[in-house]
Formats: sequence, structure tokens, C-alpha cells
Amino acid sequence: MVNPSGSSGMRDPDVTIRRILKVNHAGEFGAIRIYGAQILMARRLFPDIVPALEEMREDEIDHCRLFREAMPARRAKPCRVMAFWSLGGFVLGILTALGGRDMIWICTEAVESTVHRHLEDQLAFLKERDPKLHVLIATIQEQELAHLRKAEESQKKRGLSHALLLPIVGALTDLMIWLSTWGDSSWMRAEMARAGKE
Ligand SMILES: [Fe+2]
Ligand SMILES: [Fe+2]
Repeated sequence: MVNPSGSSGMRDPDVTIRRILKVNHAGEFGAIRIYGAQILMARRLFPDIVPALEEMREDEIDHCRLFREAMPARRAKPCRVMAFWSLGGFVLGILTALGGRDMIWICTEAVESTVHRHLEDQLAFLKERDPKLHVLIATIQEQELAHLRKAEESQKKRGLSHALLLPIVGALTDLMIWLSTWGDSSWMRAEMARAGKE
């Protein structure tokens, strides 16, 4: 699985696999922090949605652990800017919770649908190259889809805030992924799209 000569070159699949693990692990950590901040606020403001948020946070904790455990065999290391993900997630969670209960769900919808798109690219790339990781990500993706569905169902109405916030949070999530991979997510996306078509 690991190519000993493979630490150089953007096209080395092992490098891409390490970057996938790194960004997914960091992203799950960010998600834990988003839900954590929202739970903190929701306990005071909208206690009825706390159990649903806690359940999703539990899933993210699981995902984060699973990605961490998949790292050593692939010589991957956690993201160097985890504090950045931590703070970004926490601030996003607090701000959306202040905006009201629908904002919480719009945030979840935006993050989970952006994540879903990245996972789709990854699955296409990994299918032949790392079947074990492919299975792991496919399983996790099912749970992320359940989060997405829950967020969609929970919104009372979809007005202006949905139209405005969805693309903003989606773009922020993309930006976080882009920054934490030092811009590599762009070429990864192109690479994975190309690999998917092969
Ligand atoms: Fe997750
Ligand atoms: Fe999720």
C-alpha cells in the first residue's frame, strides 16, 4: 500500500491518500467543535434539539477516531493547523446558534453537503487504490448523509437566511479544506474527478 519512494511528486497516489486522511481527520475535528459550540448554546436557547446535536457529535467523534486510526499504516499525520479547525468550528457553531435554530440546521446542511461532495471525489479516487479506506469512507459517508437529511428535515421554512447562509457556510467549509491542505484540495478535486472517469 505504501510506496517507499513515494514522498515526492504531486501525482503519487500515496501522497494523495495521506492528504485525504489529514483533511478528513481535521474536518471531523472541526465538525465536533461546531456541534460542541451549538450544543453549548442550544442548551440555553433551544434545549429540544440538544439530543439530535449530541447524537451527531457522537458520530463525528467516531469518524475522527477512525480517520486517526487509519493514519499510521499509510504514514499520514494529523493536520498541523488543528487549532485553526478548532477555532473555526467553534466560532461557526456559536454564530449560527445565535442566529436561531434554523440557522443551526442551515449550517449543518451546508457543511454536510460540502463534505459529501469531497467524500464523493475521494471515493472515486480510492476505489482501486485503497479499498480498505474506500470502505471506511463509504460507511462514514452514509452517516454524514443521515446528518444532511436530518438538517434538511428540521428546517421549519426555507427563506432568505437559507438562500444567503448556505452558500456562505459552504464556501467557508471549502476554504477551510483548501487552506488546511495548502491549496491541494483544488488539484485533488481535479485529480479525483479525472480518476473517477477512468
Ligand atoms: Fe463526520
Ligand atoms: Fe456529519
